[in-house]
Amino acid sequence: MAVIDPWGAELHADYEKIVKQFGLEVFDASAFPQPNRLMRRKVVFAARDQKLIADCIKKKKPYYALTGIMPTADKVHFGNKMVVEQLKYFQDHGAKTFILIADLEAATTRGVSLETARKRALDFHIPAYIALGLDPKKTTFYFQSENKDVVHLAYEAAQKITLNEFKAVYGSADPSRIMAAVTQVGDILFPQLTERMPGVIPVGIDQDPHIRLTRDVVARTKTTHNFFPPAGIYHKFTPSLSGGLKMSKSQPAGNIDLPEDPLDACKKILKAVSGGRKTLEEQRKLGAEVEKDMAFELLKMHLIEDDKTLNKIYADYKSGKMLTSELKQIACEKMTSFLNDFTTKLEKARKHLDALTFITFH
Ligand code: TRP
Repeated sequence: MAVIDPWGAELHADYEKIVKQFGLEVFDASAFPQPNRLMRRKVVFAARDQKLIADCIKKKKPYYALTGIMPTADKVHFGNKMVVEQLKYFQDHGAKTFILIADLEAATTRGVSLETARKRALDFHIPAYIALGLDPKKTTFYFQSENKDVVHLAYEAAQKITLNEFKAVYGSADPSRIMAAVTQVGDILFPQLTERMPGVIPVGIDQDPHIRLTRDVVARTKTTHNFFPPAGIYHKFTPSLSGGLKMSKSQPAGNIDLPEDPLDACKKILKAVSGGRKTLEEQRKLGAEVEKDMAFELLKMHLIEDDKTLNKIYADYKSGKMLTSELKQIACEKMTSFLNDFTTKLEKARKHLDALTFITFH
């Protein structure tokens, strides 16, 4: 039986197969008003209960959007950027927005102390999310370790899950993972303790096991809580520039972190796997294999907002009018301005931390 492991093993990139295997819905951008770049370009590709959320948006009914940050390093990556962009979409379309710092999860699965997690989150992760576009004034933050509702729900969830089920969903059942997973169930549901309403969790597809587990817990606590099952909206991974499924630290040559020195980022783009042909002549005659080109993928997923501009680049590159060196030049310029902008906004966000709203139970 196939499993998705949210803590590590890499998935096969066959996104269509994942949709079928795990009973997901194909994401339908046309159901959502003003779909963002990721939605329009099918980077967001799968969902659970998307109609419920689309309906809340259209009818202006209350709902929430929630995500968590694991503060394991002093860097974020393009995967986090996608999460923020998705959250921002829902935030701009009426969602009450929650961001939690998964300090309990980081402690139990990665051995990061609560103090270190706290410091990192305040110094870096929260400002980074703001720099990526989240509106801090419209967001409620908390640390897992400081939210009693979350902890209580986690204990309740633990009572509703069997070891066999856990193994079937996650592939293995280390005690630390069980702790992290039930805590995440608590995160996903706790806004409904105050107000029963649908909620959406925009995440990379690797987090779907948590959504499935939460939906099972919801079904089993119907008589006590009657929660709405959480909706999931899933995006693909940002591929490694060296062609792998996912940018990751284990493949440094193909990985761009946030922040990163723009010169280093451009060097990596220059070496990225391309869809260019072997000779200039061939390229002019046959055009590039755009689908294989990682620099184009970056432009499409992250760096070019305007559809017409992107389509023109696609057409020129595909027809042989544009060369790989020219495409990479564009990617490098766009990446440089994105990285510089990120650094500026990060510094600015750091100065305004006192204006944030945190849930605490001291
Ligand atoms: N497990 C998530 C991660 O590894 C973090 C997380 C904790 C989370 N609680 C959550 C994500 C609730 C979405 C919703 O990054």
